[in-house]
Amino acid sequence: MCGIVGISAQRNIVKHLIDGLAALEYRGYDSAGVALLGPDGIVRLRAKGKVRDLAALQLETGLDGHCGIAHTRWATHGVPSEGNAHPHVSGQVSVVHNGIIENHAALRAELQAQGYEFSSQTDTEVIAHMVERAQRAGRTLLQAVQEVVPQLHGAYAIVVVSAREPGTLVGARLGSPLVVGLGEGEQYFGSDVHALLPLTRRFLYLEEGDVAELSTAGVQVYTLAGEKVQREVKESQFNADAVQRGDYAHYMLKEIHEQSQAVADTLEGRIAGGKVLTQIFGVEAEQLLAATQAVHIIACGTSYHAGLVARYWIEQLAGVPCTTEIASEYRYRDPVVREGTLFLTISQSGETADTLAALKLAKQMPYLAQLAVCNVPESSIVRESSLVLMTRAGPEIGVASTKAFTTQLVALALFALALGRVKGLDDARYADGVRQLEQLPGLIVETLKLDAEIKTLAERFTDKHHALFLGRGTHWPVAMEGALKLKEISYIHAEAYAAGELKHGPLALVDEDMPVIAVAPNDRLIDKLKSNLEEVRARGGQLYAFVDETVAHGLDAAHVVILPAAGEIAAPVISTLPLQLLSYHVAVLRGTDVDQPRNLAKSVTVE
Ligand code: G6P
Repeated sequence: MCGIVGISAQRNIVKHLIDGLAALEYRGYDSAGVALLGPDGIVRLRAKGKVRDLAALQLETGLDGHCGIAHTRWATHGVPSEGNAHPHVSGQVSVVHNGIIENHAALRAELQAQGYEFSSQTDTEVIAHMVERAQRAGRTLLQAVQEVVPQLHGAYAIVVVSAREPGTLVGARLGSPLVVGLGEGEQYFGSDVHALLPLTRRFLYLEEGDVAELSTAGVQVYTLAGEKVQREVKESQFNADAVQRGDYAHYMLKEIHEQSQAVADTLEGRIAGGKVLTQIFGVEAEQLLAATQAVHIIACGTSYHAGLVARYWIEQLAGVPCTTEIASEYRYRDPVVREGTLFLTISQSGETADTLAALKLAKQMPYLAQLAVCNVPESSIVRESSLVLMTRAGPEIGVASTKAFTTQLVALALFALALGRVKGLDDARYADGVRQLEQLPGLIVETLKLDAEIKTLAERFTDKHHALFLGRGTHWPVAMEGALKLKEISYIHAEAYAAGELKHGPLALVDEDMPVIAVAPNDRLIDKLKSNLEEVRARGGQLYAFVDETVAHGLDAAHVVILPAAGEIAAPVISTLPLQLLSYHVAVLRGTDVDQPRNLAKSVTVE
């Protein structure tokens, strides 16, 4: 989704603005632009396409300056084009914006009636004109922004620059993230810390409604009501190296191979003496878990799939009723909350607009607490939640989520086991679950050795238009995640079905052109799944089975990939890995943009 960088310095900074945009490319975008203060006012460069196109344009023109703003746009209002790309300009003012201004049509009509001319189809342009109008009426840039933001309905992170006040940048946020980076004699804005890591590791995380004014001299933050506030300075745990691709062809491949370490990091300090340390869920976790009578899990995309796996675990291991729901559905129905229900969000970014909105809604309902499983410290979801369990996947750059998913599964398994322990899960099963988690990093390394075999298999998918993924139990959501990966990055239409549903529709689609991919651990449902696979075989379907060695015997499939045997906790993680590799290799063979698939965004900060 859109990215923002802003810099006020005493040196030429266009390179850093563009490098910052490049670091935000992973969020997904379709055009990019930069605006700088020159001796004669604002100068701007914009390009449809990639940041490198913008960089080429900058080289051609030699544009540079000490103070400026830059943006990667992911189209919401108006097609991807140079004219719709940010920054938008009105007279002496230029603005970049993430989010959606819902009342833009009314504001546009009002501004047009006052003679303002619009040059784009975006909702953002109204902000440029409104700030310009306020400055024309004598306001400072800060006052102008403070006057404008209460009139904006919707979600925004904005940074504004004005030729009337060279060296000053004013940013504001509500519903979309914005951070301030602190440098020596220079200060920065970024829509996330990655944009600024090469420049600083010291950040202020703006809170909802904050307006910040920065210049080379320093930063001052105000609340929406205009009161001065201090926001704590935090040192980022990330470093710039963590977002380098290294020798890997794609971030996605790098992140697939980082999973063993990411899982080990997520487990570190959370298990001791064969037990999950309950305090990792907060000081009063023991009482909280005891009081938990039900769990509502809310998430989007891949994180939703992790939540679906967790539903099985929470019910099987803890005997506690659990529902898992898509955030955008939850927030617009009228959920009924029984006493003793825990609200659990799962989010890699911690900024997904629908998940965040659902969390805010939940805070007004009689939930026991709001637990977030999240990968980004200081994200909005982390800050809004009463309890947090961080996944420690490190920065995930590929749009298609991989290590974030498997570390979410690990965090959720820790939760299910801790809850199970409090709710009377028998010792042997509990100890076995903990042991499986401890063995997981090694098992992941083993499983990823299948890479070459899966790469060969991928060649059989390059000319396919559709694929069907099947699984049962916890492996149904694993199949859903496999189908999502394939469609996201290879653009092959893929669907996942609970294998038991095969006869109720999808079997009609099965023929020699429809590859059917089954993920099947050795669990109590394996015989049923084998029967489903026979149904596929009997219709001439090409069957690809990812199974453990104990299941492979007697399986009549065109292609069988044997996975290490794993138990009920480890198996969903292990079975996910070959599906990630499969979609990766199919996408590479089809020549798609693996890390930045068309139309998609890494962090969906609009509804
Ligand atoms: C986007 C990303 C997905 C992600 C989903 C939810 O669609 O492309 O990879 O699963 O958002 O994001 P979250 O950050 O809340 O996990």
